[in-house]
Formats: sequence, structure tokens, C-alpha cells
Amino acid sequence: MSEPQKIDPAKIKSFIRRQGRATAGQKQALESHWDKYCLSPQASFDAEQAFGRQAPLIVEIGFGNGDSLAAMAAANPDLNYLGIEVHRPGVGHLMMLLEQRGITNVRIYHHDAIEILEQKIADHSLAGVHLFFPDPWQKRRHHKRRIVRPSFVELLNKKLMAGGYFHAATDWEHYAKDMLGILSAGTGLQNSSPTNDFCERPAYRPLTKFENRGLGLGHGVWDLIFRKL
Ligand SMILES: C[S@@+](CC[C@H](N)C(=O)[O-])C[C@H]1O[C@@H](n2cnc3c(N)ncnc32)[C@H](O)[C@@H]1O
Repeated sequence: MSEPQKIDPAKIKSFIRRQGRATAGQKQALESHWDKYCLSPQASFDAEQAFGRQAPLIVEIGFGNGDSLAAMAAANPDLNYLGIEVHRPGVGHLMMLLEQRGITNVRIYHHDAIEILEQKIADHSLAGVHLFFPDPWQKRRHHKRRIVRPSFVELLNKKLMAGGYFHAATDWEHYAKDMLGILSAGTGLQNSSPTNDFCERPAYRPLTKFENRGLGLGHGVWDLIFRKL
């Protein structure tokens, strides 16, 4: 009998593609503005070419409908933002916002963020990585799908520049503690919390759609900020 095939835990996807329907506005944005904002995962990534300028680069993984990414980009025109999301209607929603508000410092990958980080982003090139309200994969048997795992921390450490930061937030206490343990065990990233656990929400992070949903359910919110030494 053949041995059962072992799956590399680092290769387990943190998402399941949802079919969710795009609204008419999102569809229109997807059709009209794709080439203006979206980058091809098949081409190589050159930040200066993609944004038409040099500026510190912040990646947001899983921006959802992009409300908070659009708000941050508008508030920080001196930074370049690269949003990565697998949910197509969310990509359409973000493009709609960028177009309506004339925001020019955001580019998008509609793709798995892990593959983009691994294959497209140069080592030591990121000023920041944001991960706001990642899917909590609450059932124990699904914890292996959580995006924050030791291999992810290794990848962050490789892609962040010295002094760059990783900022995660969640409304699930169990996941918050799990992330704290994994991030603290990794080498090279230092917790910015004065108490070595969680941070106050910094002013630059707007409330997100999923955060508001969690707050409505009575959840708490935990922010983690780690800086590369
Ligand atoms: C719970 S939602 C949070 C959305 C948003 N950040 C917010 O706070 O409203 C998590 C999002 O991450 C996306 N996602 C999960 N894993 C991903 C990955 N590996 N690459 C890109 N997007 C991912 C999902 O499609 C989903 O839209």
C-alpha cells in the first residue's frame, strides 16, 4: 500500500474562494479600471514602474471590500499601498472607491498574498505589512488554515526592510493570543507593545468592515505590531 501523501503545512491556503456576486457598480469597476489598478501575477513586480514613483511600500493582505485601505491611502499620499485580495467583488469595490475619490497611490493583486510575497516582492523591500481581521478559522481542525503561522512569520521577516513593521488586528481573542505566541517565537521581529503583548489601535488604522461586524457582536479587538530589528 502506498504511503499517504504528507501535506506541507506552509502550503495550506488561508482562504476558500467564495463565489460572492459583484454589484453592478463593482462589475463596472472590474470591467473599466482593471488595467489601471491591477497588476498581473504573471509579470514581474517593479514598484517604481507600478506606482510611477519611489515611495515606502505598504502591503495590505486581504483588504476585503477595501474601505479601510482606500481611507489609509487617501490619508497618506506619500506612501504606496499594494492591496492583495482573492475575493473579486472586493477588488471591484476597492477600484470603485479609488476612482470615485481620485486616489492614485494604490495598486492591486487579485491573487493569493502568500504567492505574491514569495514570488514577486523583493527581499527587504517592504516598509509595512497590514493584516486586518484575517479569517479566524475558528474550529480547531481548521486552525491550520490561519494565515499567521511560523512559515508566514519567516516570510515577513524576509520581505520587511530593517525598521519595517507588521501590523495585525483581530476580534477573536484566541487567534490574537495564537498570533502573539507565533510572532514572539519568531526571530528578528520585535513586539512594539510596551507590555510585550497587544497595542492600542494606532490612529492610522481606520475601523474595518469586519471589525465593525465583530464590535456589533460584542467582540473585543486586539492589535499586534511587530517591528523588524
Ligand atoms: C475576514 S475578511 C477581512 C477583510 C478586511 N480586512 C476587513 O477587516 O474588513 C479576510 C479577507 O482576507 C482574504 N484572504 C484570506 N487569505 C488570503 C490570501 N492568502 N491572499 C489574499 N487574500 C486573502 C479573504 O478573501 C477575505 O476577504
